[in-house]
Amino acid sequence: MPATKMVGLVELLIAAAVSTATAQKEAPQAVLPALLPDFCCAALSRALPWSRLLFPHHTAFETRHSSYFNVNQQTINPSCIVQPRDHGEVALAVAALTSTSKFKPCKFAIRSGGHGTYAGASNIDAGVVLDLKNLNTVKYDARNNLVDVGPGATWNDVYTTLEPLGIMIAGGRSSLVGVGGLTLGGGISYFSPEHGFVCDNVVEFSLVLASGRFAFASKTSNPDLFMALKGGGNNFGVVISFAFRAFKYSGMWGGLVVYPETTMHDQFKALVNFANKIEKNPKGAAIVMSVYQSTVGVPLVSNAYDYAEPVSRPAAYDEFFAIPGVIADTTGIRNMSSIAQEWEGVTTHSVFFGTLTFANDLRVMKQAHEIFKDVLSHLKTKATGDWGIYTIYQPIPPAYWKDSEARGGNVLGFERFNNQALCLYLPYISWQGAEQDALFQASGAELIKRIRKYAESIGADNPFLYLNYADKTQDPLATYGAANVERIRAVAKKYDPHEFLQNLVPGGFKIANVS
Ligand SMILES: *[C@@H]1O[C@H](CO)[C@@H](O)[C@H](O)[C@H]1NC(C)=O
Repeated sequence: MPATKMVGLVELLIAAAVSTATAQKEAPQAVLPALLPDFCCAALSRALPWSRLLFPHHTAFETRHSSYFNVNQQTINPSCIVQPRDHGEVALAVAALTSTSKFKPCKFAIRSGGHGTYAGASNIDAGVVLDLKNLNTVKYDARNNLVDVGPGATWNDVYTTLEPLGIMIAGGRSSLVGVGGLTLGGGISYFSPEHGFVCDNVVEFSLVLASGRFAFASKTSNPDLFMALKGGGNNFGVVISFAFRAFKYSGMWGGLVVYPETTMHDQFKALVNFANKIEKNPKGAAIVMSVYQSTVGVPLVSNAYDYAEPVSRPAAYDEFFAIPGVIADTTGIRNMSSIAQEWEGVTTHSVFFGTLTFANDLRVMKQAHEIFKDVLSHLKTKATGDWGIYTIYQPIPPAYWKDSEARGGNVLGFERFNNQALCLYLPYISWQGAEQDALFQASGAELIKRIRKYAESIGADNPFLYLNYADKTQDPLATYGAANVERIRAVAKKYDPHEFLQNLVPGGFKIANVS
């Protein structure tokens, strides 16, 4: 216990009550009904300085709680939030939460950016939120060309720190997303055509295991854990730092271009061809989005073009540029931070994310759009207020996984698909009002179900489900292939033999739930 710990009256009373409870003489509630917080929060208050804990109805608690991306995560009520300030404090917090489990299981959620999309991904009712917000280091070391990043850093923290140094790492596309969650789920970057998935750019992970002990994972140290962490989510421990390989950076070109919905088929054609040529143009990334916002009232297409060099209107996008009718265009020579800020989501709406992968096949995209129009017309008759849908199509070409194995492997399982370019589909739906949850969630599920059925009917389906986009009802780990499922299971068992993460941390996607 830190010697500098401030001993306030309330804390003293809590400590007294907890020791009483631990000695099993008297239930804590009987001692101090009004002052005593939840048992697990009290256990944390003995392990860490009091200032690391936030309780409901306090301003700092409410501010942090209302910063979850999905409003439906904001309506979950944890007993307290614990915010360790360094690696040692994470270890103390984890040990405090797991060591009491015989006496009373302390359920907790692990939060980095809080962008996990479903309610309960990184928040928990009547439990503890282990909030890694203060582990937000971004430090470049020129000697080994690595960037040390804390899980609580946002991608905005990363980019704004590295840009002035002329250095970059392959990271996420939205500024507010946290490094921890995105990286452990695989992670897609504008730099992926050249540098691969975000997780494959990690050279070393530092973790606190469920026991409270430190562990390191790299190609040479705990290589089984190293591989499983890349795509396996929060099944193994609490990652406290990532060492990312860095590369030189001198700016980029990119932004959003908006077109009328009537150009949809041309957009899909351009996207299919773009994906098939990424090997020849490894600097270029493109995303096609079919968009409807109730406040706008007309369907639109919004494309993201992002080129990893400061080159204006690169030839890789010629087929897109040839599509007439541009309504708005924010592309230009810009920085990664500015491009990521353009994708900064609001935190005022309920959100549905769900995912599907299919072949890079024009027929599926066209049919997916017909299904979207059908679902949209239904929603227009039922939904109220400010709502919107982005249906997002992004290429996953073989270039993204070409270096995975050489870098120590991941558990995503793309090697199974040989050299087939794929398309990742995401309906990102947002609305307000809990009474509309069922309507919008059902619409998202319907899009996925009907598109999958069509893809299967023409043999253009693919089993992969991307963890970072998966809905709670989906089972992404199960789609990595049988060998990877067994690998994740074995590694989880080896590094967390008491299965604390499976039993105490319900958020995320758990290997114990995969049959
Ligand atoms: C990108 O960021 C760097 C460092 O902050 C700055 O010097 C440069 O002007 C920025 N470039 C653009 C195009 O905004």
